[in-house]
Amino acid sequence: MLFLASKNIEKKPVSVVLLREEGKVLRHPFYRVLNDADKALIDRFLAATDLKKSPVNTLFLPSGSRILIIGTGDKNSFTAKKVLLAMRQVIAAAKKAGIKNVQVYIPDFVSKDSKDLNWLAESFATQAELANFEFVVYKTSKEDKPNFVEKVLVYAERNPAQAQKYLDRGKIVGEEMNAARTLANTPAGDMTPEGLAKAAEAAAKANKISIKVLEEDAMRRLGMGGVLGVGQGASAKPRFIVMEYWGASKREPPVVLVGKGITFDSGGINIKPERGLHEMHMDMSGGAAVIHTVTALARLKARKNIIGLIPAAENMVSGASYRPGDVLKTMGGKTIEVGNTDAEGRIVLADGLEYAKKYKPRLVIDAATLTGAALVALGQRASAMFSTERRYENLLREIGERTGDPVWPMPLWEEFEEELKANFGDLSNIGKYDRIGGLATSAVFLWQFIKPIPWVHLDIAPRMTSMEGDNLAKGSIGAPVNLLVHFLEKF
Ligand code: BES
Ligand code: ZN
Ligand code: ZN
Repeated sequence: MLFLASKNIEKKPVSVVLLREEGKVLRHPFYRVLNDADKALIDRFLAATDLKKSPVNTLFLPSGSRILIIGTGDKNSFTAKKVLLAMRQVIAAAKKAGIKNVQVYIPDFVSKDSKDLNWLAESFATQAELANFEFVVYKTSKEDKPNFVEKVLVYAERNPAQAQKYLDRGKIVGEEMNAARTLANTPAGDMTPEGLAKAAEAAAKANKISIKVLEEDAMRRLGMGGVLGVGQGASAKPRFIVMEYWGASKREPPVVLVGKGITFDSGGINIKPERGLHEMHMDMSGGAAVIHTVTALARLKARKNIIGLIPAAENMVSGASYRPGDVLKTMGGKTIEVGNTDAEGRIVLADGLEYAKKYKPRLVIDAATLTGAALVALGQRASAMFSTERRYENLLREIGERTGDPVWPMPLWEEFEEELKANFGDLSNIGKYDRIGGLATSAVFLWQFIKPIPWVHLDIAPRMTSMEGDNLAKGSIGAPVNLLVHFLEKF
């Protein structure tokens, strides 16, 4: 989508006017430039319409131009979250009405939570890209192709150059999130560990990121028994993807991101019940998010050192699969006794976290669709966050809400370690009380492989797919790219 900040109001694109319940249209710049007949029609319409009941309205004006009026509720309920929804709604409404060019006014999005026009311009571009996205790669009929918005004119009377700068930033973030969504939405037959590695290579090549893809032999030499064990039942072979973006002095220790890259999770021999299985090609969402967070930061020319690691494997059922009761030796030497082959994410991450230590990182963040228990706890409203660093939790929470990528803190407590004791291995991959405490034990399991390095774990299973009311297409939503980009820029 093209975003253009302009000093002038133009006639051709459809003007979008957002109105608070108590709002006056009289002062709106898009209203003020209209002729009297157009104004009169709008006045009559607003006098007769309850914007609360019918928030989205397209009006055809006597002069021939069109205007989109969107009601955003009253001022006090227009929170940061609702601002993001309204931004998406502008595009969703235009898409639905077949409108290709729109014109918006960023101050319309000012809320009690945010008055920063630069931030609003950046957010708008990101949210507009997200709302304009549909996964149509496999649609062959023209009728199924949605109308996409092609151009957004942003009226910025005072400083169009500055608005443009923030629009461009936001566009990059939105595009990278959509790229992550495409990877996650792609069916598992077409998005194997090798396919994921190829996608990472393509993204890296275009953006001065160095990349290395370890194949089975190299992984065996490193002793990555976790990734190899989980992947041994599949005919699509595992890979370990290493992306390095050095935007600062090489002497500065990097932040390492680790993303779960299970390209399909059948559950393995502990096969999953039917429910939800068809979505398990998205079990590499964390990996996709890591690939496109690194890429976004490179495109934004962040002066940071960021490493992205993705242990990628397919968890399948076959005569060669790993079994319950198997004991796998991970890269760091610790052994894992497999209590359940469906708790495979933590096993591949064990090798990923160990590999991260090579970099002597300042901080390690992993993102993984790790547990159904996180979904049970939080619904689809927030990712679960576990961290050794209390001081980052508040910042992550705050940025999460501002970017529409919410995370919520959970307890990382040593007491749970006792529940992970195994009979024959060092650790069991499931907790002693099975589903009770399943979210906490999954995080405490990972912790054993990264101690004593500062670490944040994001269980993004809750936010793998869109939910009703999101104003987003079905399927992946690209979490937590937006959160990570903004956190790492600040970090
Ligand atoms: N990939 C799943 C978790 C998941 C569930 C992600 C739903 C997205 C939506 C994970 O590998 C898994 O199966 N976890 C098990 C762990 C259990 C066996 C201890 C779970 O949550 O049931
Ligand atoms: Zn699983
Ligand atoms: Zn999984």
